[in-house]
Parts: sequence; structure tokens; C-alpha cells
Amino acid sequence: MTTVPNSAPGVRPTDFRFRCIACGNLSDDASQNFRCGSCGDLLEITYPQWKENAGDLKTAWRQRRLSQAAIDLSGVWRFRELLPALENGDQAITLREGNTPLYELPQCARINGVPRLLAKHQGMNPTGSFKDAGMTVAATFARRAGFRWVACASTGNTSASMAAYAARGGLRSLVLVPEGKISWSKLSQALDYGAVTCQLRTDFDGCLKLLQELVLCAPVYQLNSINPFRLEGQKTLALELLEQLAWQPPDHIIVPGGNLGNSSAIGKALLEMRDLGLISRLPKLSVIQAEGANALVRTLREAGGKKLVSVHAETRATAIRIGNPASWKKAAHVLDATSGACEQVTEVEIAQAKAEIGAEGIGCEPASAVTLAGLKKLVQQGFVKPQESVVLVLTGNLLKDPDFTMEFHRGDLFKGSRDESAAYALNAQRRPPIVLDATLDAVIKTLEQAEKT
Ligand code: F0G
Repeated sequence: MTTVPNSAPGVRPTDFRFRCIACGNLSDDASQNFRCGSCGDLLEITYPQWKENAGDLKTAWRQRRLSQAAIDLSGVWRFRELLPALENGDQAITLREGNTPLYELPQCARINGVPRLLAKHQGMNPTGSFKDAGMTVAATFARRAGFRWVACASTGNTSASMAAYAARGGLRSLVLVPEGKISWSKLSQALDYGAVTCQLRTDFDGCLKLLQELVLCAPVYQLNSINPFRLEGQKTLALELLEQLAWQPPDHIIVPGGNLGNSSAIGKALLEMRDLGLISRLPKLSVIQAEGANALVRTLREAGGKKLVSVHAETRATAIRIGNPASWKKAAHVLDATSGACEQVTEVEIAQAKAEIGAEGIGCEPASAVTLAGLKKLVQQGFVKPQESVVLVLTGNLLKDPDFTMEFHRGDLFKGSRDESAAYALNAQRRPPIVLDATLDAVIKTLEQAEKT
């Protein structure tokens, strides 16, 4: 390996600056760990010279949908006026990310007593998760800053996405994942895209801590969501959503919370859209966590959002098995700014919600299903009112964690766990595979039996 490049990420910004979220210190460059040089807190990207006109932006974004240029075909770079600027569009490492569907969930709406329920399905991105929207921007700026290596700690999706974008951009990638704690689907993606993949004998929080040390002594560019370029890309989820809704904000947007980068990015986008006049009011942005990985819930309830309450994380929704979320302060800020809620849901509630989404022909991974499970609670609590519109952000594709789905339908998911008896309630939703003799008679009998249920 060579030495650390002199030009730290974004050292020659044309249009943006880094701002510390705690002390407000502004700088033109960022250290390798993306922490404030004065107080050590996280950085965000700000655009002091923005003079955008909302109407012009909407027109430009709409017109780009007719273009065949790679940068316009990307559902992220199409919104480039609200991203750090590139000298030219060819610099972007893109896999045509974004452009994800907004689905109606009529059955889930009926079951949960809301008039209209929509799902913004980020699992339809090129590598199957929302990470691609942030990765196209951050990987592009890694290459632009002269780095040869990129690295991340991951519960699986970040590593899959990073490995793909690195490969497309001619960069090498290093993945740190907790051994035995991520799904094979995600691990196999990183392998196929050529990452150097290390399974560390620790959890996600241990992997992230190590990465933070590594980037200070090796010339690798970190692509976790601590990297503020990631969050700029992930903002476009909200821009695209509002465009799909003809710029009429829903009453609620509900998102899963793990390391809390995505909720922070969506919240930043909502506030920027409001400030630019793209929307006239803010949706309430709510974050849902698994009960076994509920650091933000506890931080808000037990410490008034003032100091992080870390937890030892445990959940079958492995994507959000995180006990020490890096972006907790950013997330607490956007929850406060949009008057959103923060809730936790049980393992059984997650499994039930995942099955309900799957039964609509949509499907998602367990971490995404916390949004529907959380909605049930927010309706019961009266936080989501009858007649209010709701958008769930589905963060990952169903195929990301087939083991969870198979164990659920076979009835093995909660076997031997303390949730075993509570899980009986899920039996009606299970559709286990049926092994039969290869005869017409056997299949017809099965069909007749199924018709009765
Ligand atoms: N949903 C999925 C499918 C995820 O993969 C993640 C995070 C989240 C939700 C939570 O998002 O961290 O921005 O609050 N996955 C990371 C990873 C940590 O390494 O893939 P967050």
C-alpha cells in the first residue's frame, strides 16, 4: 500500500463545506474518520451558496427523465443540484441506482386501519438495498480524491453495495463483517464483487470501531454512513418519493433504525426541501427499531436524547443488529425537527409484519418490516391518526435473507426461543412447502385442501 493521499476527501470543494453537527465548525476538508477537528463529533455537508429555485429544480429533474445520459439515468444523480458537485458527469460511478417503485399496500392498510399506505421500495436498487443511493456518491468522491482502497464495517448490505460500486469504479474494497451474524446472500454479494472480506470475531459495533482506527493509519477511504457523502446520496430517496407524490407530502414517513444514517439522510432531505420551497410542510419522520437493538429508543426515553444509551444488540433482523449507532445525534435532531416518533417492536411483530408485506406480492427483508410493525403501534397509540397518509421505507429486498423467510414458513424461526408460544399467532400466515409424490392425484388433493383455507 502507498501513503495516505494528501487530498483528504473533498479537499477542493467547489460548492459545499463540512459542518460539525455539535460545534458548528466549518471546514473545507475532512479527516479520514470524518470527525470534527475541534470537538470530534460527526460532520455533515452543507451548501452555503445554494440559490436554487424550486420550480426550476422540479422542471430540470423532470426533463432529465427523457435523457439517456448515464448520470441522468441514475435516480440519484438526476437530483444533482442538491448533491456535492462533480466537474463532469462521467466521474460518477453509477449502476442506475434509485428510480425505485412506490407501491400501494392495500391489504396492509386495511389490516392496520389507515386509508392509504405506500411503500417506497429501496430493495429494488441494483444490489438490493437502499445503500446504493449513498454508495454511488461516496464511492465517486473516494475515487475523485485519489483513493485506491475503500472499506466498511457492515451488517451485510453496505458491504454488498460498496463492493459492487468499488468494482464498477476500478477501486479495491475491504469488508469487515461480524462472523456468523450476517446473511449468506449479502456475504456472497461481497465475495462475487471481489471484496477482500474479513469475518471478524465480534459484532457490528466491534467492526466499526476497528474500521475507525484503521482509516487513521492506512490509506483506505471509509464508506460507512459516518461518511457524509453517503447521506447526501441517500437524501435522494426522499426527493424521489416527493416527486412521485407530485410534491404533496404524506403525513408520515416511517423508516427502520440501525446505525441511523438513513433516517438522518431522509430528515436532512425533508428539511432542505422545505427550506428550498419544494414542499410546503414537513411529514413526520418516525424511526422504528427492533426491541433487542433499541439504542435510540432508550436514548430518547432514558436520556432525553442528550447522551447515547448503548445496548448489547440481539435480533433476527440482522441488518439492524447494532447497539452503538454512530448517527444517533443526527437522527435525534431530525425526529425532533419533524415531530416524529421512535418506537420498538418485538421479534414476533417483525415476523408478522414481514409476512403481511410478503402477502401483498412485495416482500422485503426483516429489518424493513419493522416499519409496518411500528405503524401498528403508532396507530394504536393514536400518533398516526385515521385518515392520515403513511409511507413505509422498505430498505432491503426479500432475497437478502432467505433463511429468515424459510424458517418462518417452516415454523422453525422461534423454536426453542422465549418467543415460541407468542409465535403460535403466526401460524395462519405460514405457507410451508409441501412434499408430495409426483402424482396428479396428490397435487389435485392439495389444491382442493388449499381452496378450503
Ligand atoms: N434496513 C436494512 C436492510 C439495512 O441494511 C440497514 C443497515 C438498515 C435498515 C438501517 O439503516 O443503519 O442507516 O439506520 N445496514 C447497515 C449495513 C448497517 O451495514 O448494511 P441505518
